Amino acid sequence: MKIWIIGLRGTTATTATVGTLAAQRGLLPLEGLLTETAPFGALPLAEVQTLEFGGCDLSPGHLAGTAHATLAAVGAFPTAVVEAVMPELERISITRGTLRGGGRAVEALAEGEPDLSESAREAIDRITSDLQGFAAGAPAVVVNLASTEPLTDPALASWDLAALEQALDADDSRIPASSLYAYAAVQARLPYINFTPSAGASLPALIELARETGVPLAGRDGKTGETLVKTALAPMFAIRALTVEGWYGTNILGNTDGQVLADPENRASKITSKQGVLEACLGYSPEGDVRIDYFPPLADHKVAWNFIQFRGWGGHRMRMQFTWEGTDAVLAAPLVLDLARLINFAWQRGEAGPIGALGLFFKTPEGSPEMNLHRQYEALLRWVEAGGQQAEPALEDPALRLPAPQRRAS
Ligand SMILES: NC(=O)c1ccc[n+]([C@@H]2O[C@H](COP(=O)([O-])OP(=O)(O)OC[C@H]3O[C@@H](n4cnc5c(N)ncnc54)[C@H](O)[C@@H]3O)[C@@H](O)[C@H]2O)c1
Repeated sequence: MKIWIIGLRGTTATTATVGTLAAQRGLLPLEGLLTETAPFGALPLAEVQTLEFGGCDLSPGHLAGTAHATLAAVGAFPTAVVEAVMPELERISITRGTLRGGGRAVEALAEGEPDLSESAREAIDRITSDLQGFAAGAPAVVVNLASTEPLTDPALASWDLAALEQALDADDSRIPASSLYAYAAVQARLPYINFTPSAGASLPALIELARETGVPLAGRDGKTGETLVKTALAPMFAIRALTVEGWYGTNILGNTDGQVLADPENRASKITSKQGVLEACLGYSPEGDVRIDYFPPLADHKVAWNFIQFRGWGGHRMRMQFTWEGTDAVLAAPLVLDLARLINFAWQRGEAGPIGALGLFFKTPEGSPEMNLHRQYEALLRWVEAGGQQAEPALEDPALRLPAPQRRAS
């Protein structure tokens, strides 16, 4: 199976690509992949050994040129491992992406003057042709790992497909690059995953197009750190009738993602994506805030500190704090592979539109209102076992009933 990554030079994309190539050569253990555990390991998923990579970024070239510098910030792979896969990286070409609606912070990443002269239709057609050339008839999926865009104009959410087509004809600058890529993926009939908070395929018009065309979608914004812990922990307060009065979280990170998120326009997308989960898990919205600050000394590592104040018997107040220290790209890279394999599986089964059962992987799950991590995992198991999109969690069911995956193994 082939994986075409938007933002291929980025930290997550490079970590996923180099890690996979190294695992294929037996240089790294294949660890941290959900799809290698029961019951997923028994599914007819694309073998990791067969995965091939390609993609685009703001400037063309090949991955070998930037891999060392990008991976130095992550610190996950020994230099010898990166050297060993260099010949393959030299063969992974990066095509030119499109830069529209990325905001000042993303434009600043583009080398030299960003080329914004291409129309929306021209960009879609060029990218569709790149995708078709890359896939060359073989199974392939598209993953958005590009920088986070600012929030889109709310008007786009009211457009049907005809309105979107009209806006594309008029070269409406409100349609962001992430949605042009998503349109191209659907037009090329390739499953599309949005690992970022950007709009991507979440526009109702694009969902309509994906359903019409028979293309599965998954999104949005990978759940890899603070939000992962929150959606595992918040249900505990709910099922012990502990009232959460306040939940404050602050994140510091030092990578390029953090640099882009330092711009208030781009940060607003990420904060919106992080904010909805507590209300969905608890049934009410506690006081509190989510902060993100750029702190260069941390490079690709992220520190999140959360402070929770809750009430119990007789209204007595208690507190809990946790500190999460993660390496962003290391947490995200295996999810990219899991998602690529699972959406390809959905494609093989003829599913189209947002695959809600993949909500486990996202902060803003599309196609399912469920945010509780345990129930999301159950929904994924049901989807795998039942083989259909109807396998959604029962939201009114207060019990977690979390099964041990081993017991479900065939
Ligand atoms: N790593 C994680 O844990 C994690 C979790 C959730 C979401 N995400 C999201 O995934 C994305 C990637 O994260 P990262 O840390 O790898 O970021 P990064 O900044 O290292 O990489 C982003 C890449 O996208 C490229 N890019 C920007 N705009 C583009 C466009 N319009 N077309 C093509 N390429 C473009 C940049 O040049 C860069 O190479 C971000 O949006 C981030 O918010 C990451």
